[in-house]
Amino acid sequence: MHLTREEERFLNGEHGEALRLAMEVLVRVGEAMGAESMVPISHAHVSGVSYFSIGDYGVELLEELALKGAKVRVFTTANPSSMALAPDFMDRFGARYVEKQHRIIELLLSMGVHESFTCIPYILRTPRQGEHLAWAESSAVLYANSVLGAYTNREGGVVALMAGIAGRTYMAGVHLREFRVPRTLVRVAGSVKSRVIAGLLGLRIGAMSSGIPFVEFRGVSPADMPIGAVKQMLAAVGTASDLPMVVLEGVTPGYREYRRCADFVDRHTIRVEELVSELGREEGRGDVYITGCPHLDLEELKELAELVVRGVFDGYKEIWVALSPKVYRLGEELGIVQKLRELGVRFAVGACPVVTKLRLLGVEAVATDSAKAYSYIPKISGVTAVLRGW
Ligand code: F3S
Repeated sequence: MHLTREEERFLNGEHGEALRLAMEVLVRVGEAMGAESMVPISHAHVSGVSYFSIGDYGVELLEELALKGAKVRVFTTANPSSMALAPDFMDRFGARYVEKQHRIIELLLSMGVHESFTCIPYILRTPRQGEHLAWAESSAVLYANSVLGAYTNREGGVVALMAGIAGRTYMAGVHLREFRVPRTLVRVAGSVKSRVIAGLLGLRIGAMSSGIPFVEFRGVSPADMPIGAVKQMLAAVGTASDLPMVVLEGVTPGYREYRRCADFVDRHTIRVEELVSELGREEGRGDVYITGCPHLDLEELKELAELVVRGVFDGYKEIWVALSPKVYRLGEELGIVQKLRELGVRFAVGACPVVTKLRLLGVEAVATDSAKAYSYIPKISGVTAVLRGW
């Protein structure tokens, strides 16, 4: 791989052991991916922040990096942690989980990671079109490539942290134009009227696409979909596949050019009415309603508050809302958080219910508007899940 003089110096350890290690990891991964050079990045986003995901080995790795003096060189954000640190839930966990989770956060902050703890890092710093990033967290990666027109592979959490430390990543995968060429044409027939249907649509697109999909809409423009629907759809694509990107007609910057250079190897049509009847066949009802996977932004929080006031979620034992510390603060400033608290809502601030062992919280069955949470929660926590929209 061709390296600049500066990159050679990083790799030789002239700027410390942590930077040497970060470069070594990036060069090795890059060579395995066929990269010929590195590319500077403007933003890294790290996943693997939950103690339930990374365990003691993950904590040890972070300890070692911190000991070697690791510091990020570019703006670096981090995914949500487990709910063991969320004040509304902390007392339901043993001290060991809380301490371990706290240590992970402490170590990341000591390296200069921004106090972000969200899976929608683009609300903290919105990447410009054409910017190169190194993001972990599939839903954010899909959003960055497909909606914002940025360039990022689906990185592993460790590689993303190394990229933050080195300020660059390997130039391969969808950093290169030729790997962004659409190979699958998906026509969506019908109107997507809810977040849940958008999620089911995303699961279907992810499962059927053999390469980057180009999605044409017949009946609804993505701009007319309900609030948060595109985000739900992309998170679901990331759940059902390893795709880093979807070209959305009318949304993805330069989508006409992507259509011109497309080289389709398969074509599919999805009828929204089939998704609606699939949803109608779902049985059961959760005890706890979970929303905020991916995290809610402020507009979604406002809309949710109106629905809670109208009694849309009456009948659930609890309502949990996952969101970033920033959106929580903004919600407090507007009095939305207080109003929701009075109605019994609990907040997973900077936390992710999906990567938390929900059985430790005494939960047996959940309902959610998120196709991603619906797919993962039964596998991760052994808890039943049903899709219920808002
Ligand atoms: Fe975010 Fe956790 Fe869902 S990280 S996208 S709330 S699985």
